[in-house]
Amino acid sequence: MEPATKSFSNKENIVLFNDNNVDTKGIDSLKKIIDIDQKDTYSKDEIINSVILGDSLKVLKKFPAEIFDVVFLDPPYFLQLPKKELKRWTVNTIVEGVDDEWDKFQSFEEYDKFIQNLLIDVKRVMKPEGTIWIISTYHSIFRIGKIMQDLGYWILNDIIWVKTNPMPNWLGVRFTNATETLIWAVKDKNSKKYTFHKEYAKQFGIGKVAANVWILPLCNGKERLKDETGKKVHSTQKPVELLKRVILTSSNEGDLILDPVAGVGTTGYVARSLNRNFVMIEKNPKYVEWIEKRFKKNLNLIDKTNFNDTKYVLNFNLWDKP
Ligand SMILES: C[S@@+](CC[C@H](N)C(=O)[O-])C[C@H]1O[C@@H](n2cnc3c(N)ncnc32)[C@H](O)[C@@H]1O
Repeated sequence: MEPATKSFSNKENIVLFNDNNVDTKGIDSLKKIIDIDQKDTYSKDEIINSVILGDSLKVLKKFPAEIFDVVFLDPPYFLQLPKKELKRWTVNTIVEGVDDEWDKFQSFEEYDKFIQNLLIDVKRVMKPEGTIWIISTYHSIFRIGKIMQDLGYWILNDIIWVKTNPMPNWLGVRFTNATETLIWAVKDKNSKKYTFHKEYAKQFGIGKVAANVWILPLCNGKERLKDETGKKVHSTQKPVELLKRVILTSSNEGDLILDPVAGVGTTGYVARSLNRNFVMIEKNPKYVEWIEKRFKKNLNLIDKTNFNDTKYVLNFNLWDKP
């Protein structure tokens, strides 16, 4: 199989990752744990390098305090799409938006309560100098930011992810939404000794500057998990490249990384390939099965330490289709 590539312009192909190695260690290196109410506590050794099938609002309370170096949180967006089918009226095809059950809440109050409870539980299990990343769109990132600040988290940066292949605004009645925001924070204003690798930040930023703007495509092509009918397994699978940037800039080899809303497990998958430890929690058994399948194959990240990588970030085309 050829390495997966993304064409950013007619001139240049950037190799994002190589998925052609079958991993033998991979099969053993993922533990699957099914959480049950009768289980009261988990030790760090028990959960290291695992995916836990369960509700993170129950599971996190069973973990020891202050064990995680980094948390990556990609929570439900609460998109509130209209009930009717969204069609591209120009070509008459159906838009595959996010209309999953896991994204549904009755009200902003219910959504806020969920985020707040999750952030309280996460804060308890973060090391004093640990950091947290939260990603979302304009639908909820502002609410999340306020909740974080109210809980005492201290925001270090927001990173704007500019998507090179955003979903077009078919009706042309608003700007095309081509960004998502990541908030990067410590659990407390006084946490000063957190990990930040400036060289990686420079590599991923714009020009020579470690700017808070990352330009990369949505997850697509060979990287996108599809079922036997060709349907996307998860509507919001995040790109490997995004997690690579998060993990390389904010952690060290051997660190322990938590993703309490794991989806199809991108965080743990990238963490493993970069020699970090991980714990993932996901409540949907179908996604957990896909995580298991995914982990049977090794992710062989390319350019993981090459600071002199060709710069491509200014050379993109918003209308470059997958
Ligand atoms: C935005 S998706 C995460 C996608 C993921 N980053 C990926 O790359 O595949 C959010 C996930 O959170 C899960 N989820 C929502 N509430 C949860 C809860 N209370 N406990 C565990 N998982 C939950 C959903 O099932 C969904 O898969």
